[in-house]
Amino acid sequence: MCGIVGYIGYQLAKDIILDGLKKLEYRGYDSSGISIIFEKGKLETIRKVGKLKNLENELKNLNLNGNIGIGHTRWATHGKPSEINAHPHTDESGKLVIVHNGIIENYMSLKNELKSKYEFKSDTDTEVIAHLIMDNYKGDLYQAVKLALRRIEGTYALVVMHADNTDYIIATKNSSPLIIGLGENENFVASDIPAILNHTRDIIYLDDQDIAIVYKDKIDLFNKEGNKVSKNISKISWSISAAEKGGFEHFMLKEIYEQPFSITQSLAGRVSEVEGKIYIEDLNLKIEDLNNINRIVILACGTSYYAGIVGKYYLENILKIPTDVDYSSEFRYRNPVIDNKTLVIAISQSGETADTLAAIKLANSLGAKTLGILNVIGSAISRETIGNIYIHCGPEIGVASTKAFTSTLTCLYLFALYFAQEKKMINSDYIREKISNLKHVPKLIEKIFSPNSIKNIKNISNKLANFKDCLYLGRNYNYPIALEGALKLKEISYIHAEGYPAGEMKHGPIALIDKNTPVIAICTESSTYDKVFSNIKEVKARDALTITIATEGDLNLATEVDYIINVQKLVKRFHLL
Ligand code: BG6
Repeated sequence: MCGIVGYIGYQLAKDIILDGLKKLEYRGYDSSGISIIFEKGKLETIRKVGKLKNLENELKNLNLNGNIGIGHTRWATHGKPSEINAHPHTDESGKLVIVHNGIIENYMSLKNELKSKYEFKSDTDTEVIAHLIMDNYKGDLYQAVKLALRRIEGTYALVVMHADNTDYIIATKNSSPLIIGLGENENFVASDIPAILNHTRDIIYLDDQDIAIVYKDKIDLFNKEGNKVSKNISKISWSISAAEKGGFEHFMLKEIYEQPFSITQSLAGRVSEVEGKIYIEDLNLKIEDLNNINRIVILACGTSYYAGIVGKYYLENILKIPTDVDYSSEFRYRNPVIDNKTLVIAISQSGETADTLAAIKLANSLGAKTLGILNVIGSAISRETIGNIYIHCGPEIGVASTKAFTSTLTCLYLFALYFAQEKKMINSDYIREKISNLKHVPKLIEKIFSPNSIKNIKNISNKLANFKDCLYLGRNYNYPIALEGALKLKEISYIHAEGYPAGEMKHGPIALIDKNTPVIAICTESSTYDKVFSNIKEVKARDALTITIATEGDLNLATEVDYIINVQKLVKRFHLL
């Protein structure tokens, strides 16, 4: 995720901002930038691609001695990593500058409206905000921001500064984090706590749509209704390294908890419930191309491969197009049969996995239409494909993929709907219903993180910790989920685990099941519920400890198995399809 630091006070703003951005480096970025007001009416903006060192070196050559400024590290979402797309972005006069994290969902329509009046220089959604604020600016920056925000749909953490105004900067947020740090005759703004812990531990957390006018010696805070409010000051006791992980023990846990937000980001700007329509940019596939496709091949490694199997089920169910999933490392070393009617989709969180990169190059050379489902914009794979769908889940620092998995599933599902929509196989009512379901997913995931649910999961984990082998079972959509569960267990706990289609258990693995092999069965309400239920009985008969992931309220299972982890029911019947 991008990083934001803002400063107003008595020290050199560039030093404070650069130091803060360095503290956010661990989150990943592809470019950076800084704006400093060095005298009333004058500001300087420097932007660089690549490491912060590039920005730092450039700043060394400049005498930028202002005490008010904003800075940003960008993780590209709209437009490739480049100087032009890096933040801060300015309006046409160059006097207003903004930094932004998040995604503006209606930026295309706003851009269409504003581009007759203002010249756009970047490909970003952010630049729209700069022009929109200036469109409303009549000397009062707070009023201009307030009016502009009324037009904006989407997520944002936004910091705004105007060269004619050396008294304050403006900070506001909606579904993206932004905090204010309080100092003595100086104040700070940041997207995350580590950025300012060297200077203060007194923090104000902004609520969604609050607007803060940050002076060096006071903060004026307005809520979304425009009423002046005061907020509690929180004292941060974490160390810097704990703060980087947001208070979690490690990045993987933090990223697991981020899923409600990362899935929301994957959907942002792509679904219109009102119209019953899916929008996907940058596919570069025309309707003739889509009509021509008679086969889909998904290439990936690890967790991305398992997401690909779920994708196969979505695509075949919705599109009725035969879909294969292949390990990139297998595909690249054989002679795959591919032609120009095959759509080849590379799935990769990093966009850099060597086998997937080589496999997509091979698919290109065989004449296939190629598409990436990726997290990192500008990554090696994205440069090989015709089009890309970015999952927008933010940097994944934990080595074992977690939030990228659920964001990839979200995008695969969106793609299947989009493809069917363009081919007129489904109507807007159908799509509207699916969008409504999808929008509920983040809320349902949050329930899994409730204290009671986590207590239950911890208790089950403690019971499992001393076993040496585990079997995960599932059918249909829950078969690849079982594979992914087993992969996570072996990689993270070093317990040997296998994922199996529950129906295949009787053809061999059942011989290994006894009291020393716990079985984790995914038996949620679905078309294969009864089948999995009988598989659970079979393993119980062999004395295995049984743990089941079940739909909340399933009393039959509750009496049958040893432990249950409940998930919520999304729709009345079955799953998303
Ligand atoms: C592995 C990771 O090394 O790479 C997995 O442990 C990941 O979690 C796999 O899924 C593939 O990575 P990517 O970036 O191509 O999705």
